[in-house]
Amino acid sequence: MRSAKFHYAAIETMRSSLKSNTSALPVVDYGAGSTGRTSTVSGIARRSLKRPKHARALAALAAHLQCDTALELGTSLGLTSAYLAHHTKALTTVEGNRHIQAIAQSNWAALGIQNIRSFSGEFDEAWEEFADTEYDLIFIDGNHRGEALIRYVDKSLTVLQPHGVLVCDDIHWSPDMETAWEQLCSMPEWTLQLDAFEWGLLTRNQALKREHVSIRF
Ligand SMILES: C[S@@+](CC[C@H](N)C(=O)[O-])C[C@H]1O[C@@H](n2cnc3c(N)ncnc32)[C@H](O)[C@@H]1O
Repeated sequence: MRSAKFHYAAIETMRSSLKSNTSALPVVDYGAGSTGRTSTVSGIARRSLKRPKHARALAALAAHLQCDTALELGTSLGLTSAYLAHHTKALTTVEGNRHIQAIAQSNWAALGIQNIRSFSGEFDEAWEEFADTEYDLIFIDGNHRGEALIRYVDKSLTVLQPHGVLVCDDIHWSPDMETAWEQLCSMPEWTLQLDAFEWGLLTRNQALKREHVSIRF
């Protein structure tokens, strides 16, 4: 996972610069993951984004899956999107706060990334707009409430390729999310269920045997 192949210095330089950007942003409160505490670009960059090692892990996963299409629910400042876009032919990402989305879009332009389709809207309300294709990888990283996670997974099943992989963020973030993750793992459709603590991976890929694996890195 630490392979230089998945390290992007330009993205990390951008992360550093965002961490010192004190511009204020209007906050949209969609769920327990975005409660209004972060009202500056700096606060968002410090608290809301996947850390580099997890962004690299997701990029490695996209590369392993040879992703044609991937979907990210929760764009934020677009840095994990940028990692994923390097290993996906076409990345779709969705963000409810259009002020944050605008910063993500300018970040991708500065990085020279052109294969991202960006939607602005609340996930459920915008769903039909981006549910127009099947995805090899779906990364659910917004609205960290158990009932919302279960609903997003349920909806994702209709647009996930049979060999596709779902990654659910913050599965141990709260008792509510923990219960949702346990409920998801008990569903009969999955073969591999992988608990990486900060996120969980689920797939229906029939080439894999049904097992529950835990890793820490
Ligand atoms: C944890 S951040 C995403 C971080 C990003 N994936 C990364 O690693 O760089 C979650 C984002 O999802 C957005 N969000 C949360 N709930 C949402 C909802 N119900 N609809 C649309 N956007 C939502 C928030 O505005 C926030 O920017």
